[in-house]
Amino acid sequence: MEDKKQEKSIEEAIEGVREYTARRTAEAQKKPGVYIKTFGCQQNEADSERLCGIAEAMGYVNVGAPEEAELIIFNTCAVREHAELKALSLTGQLKHIKAQNPELIICVCGCMTAQDHRMGDLKNKYPYVDLIFGATSPQKFPEYLLNTIRRREDAHESRKRLFFPDSDALITEGLPVRRESSYKAWVSIMYGCNNFCTYCVVPYVRGRERSRRREDILAEVSELAAEGYKEITLLGQNVNSYGKDLYNGEYDFADLLGDICRLEGDFWIRFMTSHPKDASDRLIDVIAENSGEGKTGPRIARHFHLPLQAGSDKVLREMNRRYTSDYYLSLVKKLKEKVPGIGITSDIIVGFPGETEEDFEDTLKVLEEAGFDNIYSFIYSPRKGTPAAEREQLPKEVKSERFAKLLEVQNSISLKKNRAYIGKTVRVLVEGISKNDPSALTGRSELNRLVHFKGDEKLTGRFADVIITDADIYTLSGELAEKNETNGSGDCAW
Ligand code: 5AD
Ligand code: SF4
Repeated sequence: MEDKKQEKSIEEAIEGVREYTARRTAEAQKKPGVYIKTFGCQQNEADSERLCGIAEAMGYVNVGAPEEAELIIFNTCAVREHAELKALSLTGQLKHIKAQNPELIICVCGCMTAQDHRMGDLKNKYPYVDLIFGATSPQKFPEYLLNTIRRREDAHESRKRLFFPDSDALITEGLPVRRESSYKAWVSIMYGCNNFCTYCVVPYVRGRERSRRREDILAEVSELAAEGYKEITLLGQNVNSYGKDLYNGEYDFADLLGDICRLEGDFWIRFMTSHPKDASDRLIDVIAENSGEGKTGPRIARHFHLPLQAGSDKVLREMNRRYTSDYYLSLVKKLKEKVPGIGITSDIIVGFPGETEEDFEDTLKVLEEAGFDNIYSFIYSPRKGTPAAEREQLPKEVKSERFAKLLEVQNSISLKKNRAYIGKTVRVLVEGISKNDPSALTGRSELNRLVHFKGDEKLTGRFADVIITDADIYTLSGELAEKNETNGSGDCAW
């Protein structure tokens, strides 16, 4: 009942904006443009695809430059200060565009705006921003935009700008979506986080864990598979706790993955992010059963992104991660034993408050022992309102030095791992012409590693086998295996 009521009000708001865009289309003899810029993680990318789909349903057309737009949306990130400063600086640049185009509506949304102090900054220092709302309300976007348009047109309304700190954490199914890719898709399976790692702002800006119903997820994945999508990435801040809020322990992430693998289709399944404390043996078994060389149909890519964050048990405790380095390493060992060929990547933070040289050395030790294929490394960034931000901070130089050392150690591990592929055949999902070499194609391996090779552009969006001939720290290069070449004309089956 609630669902139906909400659906109706979304449809009415979309219709209301559509009337406005129809008028603008008649006046300008072309549809008004929408420009969306996304900061931060895959979850934000997925949210932006929804916002873009909704904007198109409201009569806008997607454009590639802010100068061409009548609606600009900045979907922001708050995980580190750098991302916030970048979003604020680019928002500052919109002032000139607004001066040229008074019809322009500027909207800033996402995690950064869900924080009171940033909402305040935007209200007070960026008076040309028309609409601001937080990270959990893409379903509210049509209503917010319609209200912004109506206020603007109402001569008696003095408050023309609108601000919505987050209030609506409901999940709405069936919102329009405009996917960036025709062969790779994001599927959010849950939103929010309950973990409160002491450095992290996500639980404050995205709220508590909320899982989508399994039947909605399975229907979306089925539809994507039927449309020919080759890679489906299941998203959530901690996918390993999927279902806890809905199914009382009777259906979890391992069950969901198993069900997805029983669907029709020919695609890789990826998922992120996993919290090590919630990665169960059953989950590892499901991955083992549904992955590997000869597996056809829906199959799980042998890649596990398992954020370690720190290798010192003291730091892990202070981060509220709720595992030890020994536990973490035993998990890595189990994954490697049960899923031969699996690649493991991780997130590491250096310079957490109180991190001593010894603590940092512990992180390097775990790095060596785990043998990560790749890491995403971050310098700790204090986030307002989180416990760790209240603590005494390490000097900048210490953080930078540790960051450089961490990269150095990981680079030599990554190089060794990549060189081990030389002479082997790896399956890639072809992404098209390489950005650095127009004569080559780029693909991604199961492990999400970039692979360059020569081949026909028509292979884009398909699986191909590549024999690896060379490797550096970040990429592999090679040649198409022979059986691909006969199929390169466009009639290949995989
Ligand atoms: N400072 C630095 N890195 C952070 N991350 C999250 N919060 C912070 C912070 N305050 C990193 C973690 C997380 C990744 C998405 O971002 O490593 O896994
Ligand atoms: Fe942040 Fe920790 Fe939640 Fe990940 S699990 S989003 S790091 S609080």
